[in-house]
Amino acid sequence: MRKKRFSSGIALLALSATGCGLAASPESSVMVPAEPTMIDFVDPTSIPGLSTRTLTEGHSAEGRYVHISYPELRNAPALNEALRAQVERQWREFRGRTKDPHAYPRPELNVEWQLAAESSQAIAVRLRTSVFLGASWGNSTRTYWFDPGAGKAVESTGLLDGKDALNRLTELVRQQLRNRGSQVERDGVTASGDQFDSLAFNRGGDLVVEFDDCQIGPCSLGRLAVAVPGQQVRPLLSAFGRQAQDSVKDRAQDIVKGPAPLDTTHEVTPTPTGLPRAVSNQAGTVDCAKAKCVALTFDDGPGPQTARLLDLLRKGQARATFFTVGINAAAQPELLRRMSAEGHLIGNHSWAHRDLSKQPVIKIADSVGRTEAAIEAAIGQKPTLLRPPYGAVSQELRDVAAQEGIALVTWDVDTQDQLEEKARDIVDLAVRQAHPGAIILMHDIHRESVDAVPDIIERLRGKGYSFVTVPELYGPAGMQAGRLYGSGNELPGKQPLT
Ligand code: NI
Repeated sequence: MRKKRFSSGIALLALSATGCGLAASPESSVMVPAEPTMIDFVDPTSIPGLSTRTLTEGHSAEGRYVHISYPELRNAPALNEALRAQVERQWREFRGRTKDPHAYPRPELNVEWQLAAESSQAIAVRLRTSVFLGASWGNSTRTYWFDPGAGKAVESTGLLDGKDALNRLTELVRQQLRNRGSQVERDGVTASGDQFDSLAFNRGGDLVVEFDDCQIGPCSLGRLAVAVPGQQVRPLLSAFGRQAQDSVKDRAQDIVKGPAPLDTTHEVTPTPTGLPRAVSNQAGTVDCAKAKCVALTFDDGPGPQTARLLDLLRKGQARATFFTVGINAAAQPELLRRMSAEGHLIGNHSWAHRDLSKQPVIKIADSVGRTEAAIEAAIGQKPTLLRPPYGAVSQELRDVAAQEGIALVTWDVDTQDQLEEKARDIVDLAVRQAHPGAIILMHDIHRESVDAVPDIIERLRGKGYSFVTVPELYGPAGMQAGRLYGSGNELPGKQPLT
């Protein structure tokens, strides 16, 4: 039931075989959706060695929230560089627009990503940017393409055969917009790289042109996209554009032929057999009513530092709680499997790290549910804890958590590892503030945070501490769904140890 309820909100553009009417494309036997501007996103786990990068700001008092996630591909340095340059540009621009440290609700920049194509012929990464500046959200998309053969990254217009092709595409798009109502400003469509910065193909090979909010009509219109029929657009494509179009169509054909579901990105796979026994949800052997316990918690990953952190935790014989971001978890399930196998607990940190306290119930439920599905697909267990991004909690979030059987967890020791540049300072902050029952906030996306871990373990162990997962702090009393936990000392009747 839970899955069903979320499915309607899952990924605006992700295609589900049951969720939309299907019609045969005149060009092929591939079924195309009744809404042809839908793009089939590719399961990121299909790219070996794909990792995720995260840029953040806002766990302290800077007055703005920033969370940027983008993929890093092993054999695509030019693409990685293009994505990095783009998100850094967006971050800079956002900083320039948000100077008031007291603005409330806080302005927010959020960037998430999808794979719009993946083959040996073409890879496409679609960045989806959402900006909140005090009233409502504005969304924009930008799609970068990569030619694996040439090792070259191009912007979306690189799919086209020069300026003339862009002019002709502009005309075709205006024609397509004719029946979209009077609010759409067809004449506002101009042959500019800025407007044509998010081009991808649907499974039938039609070119999907996506416009940003407010770009060619009132902001209230929401997503505006058109699909230009594949045959019409074919003569306008560059050699690489044709290669990309073919590869997306071929992949769709393969999917139709093969046994795989049409969209595997958000499928919940049943509990896999042969996995290591998931020990992370089991009560540990430490009785925190008697022993001095602390819970190390790591947010925002998994990322490039996570495997090294797991090595260090294993060496230090310490267990921890990982609050993973869904978009990262879905791309790197093997890291979640390792966490679980090594006795750590995996919690939910939302799908793309938006401030959930600004979101309506339906969006909160979508973000929580998609992440839950990604974690369950990886380790065969649903998470029972959620750390709200930025520690921001609303009544709506509590309600969703209560309904989903999830306890909310913040922290009472902030190592400031988002700001500190030296591991030594992170260690000092952690050790100085630690107390029995402490929930210690760290982030496994930062090198310095991971560097700090061996010394934190050694010095706290020297003071007699045991390292447990968050639920172990609460012992047999357990944790209640919908309740907010900020410290292992706050349970009624629990005597703080000194
Ligand atoms: Ni976070």
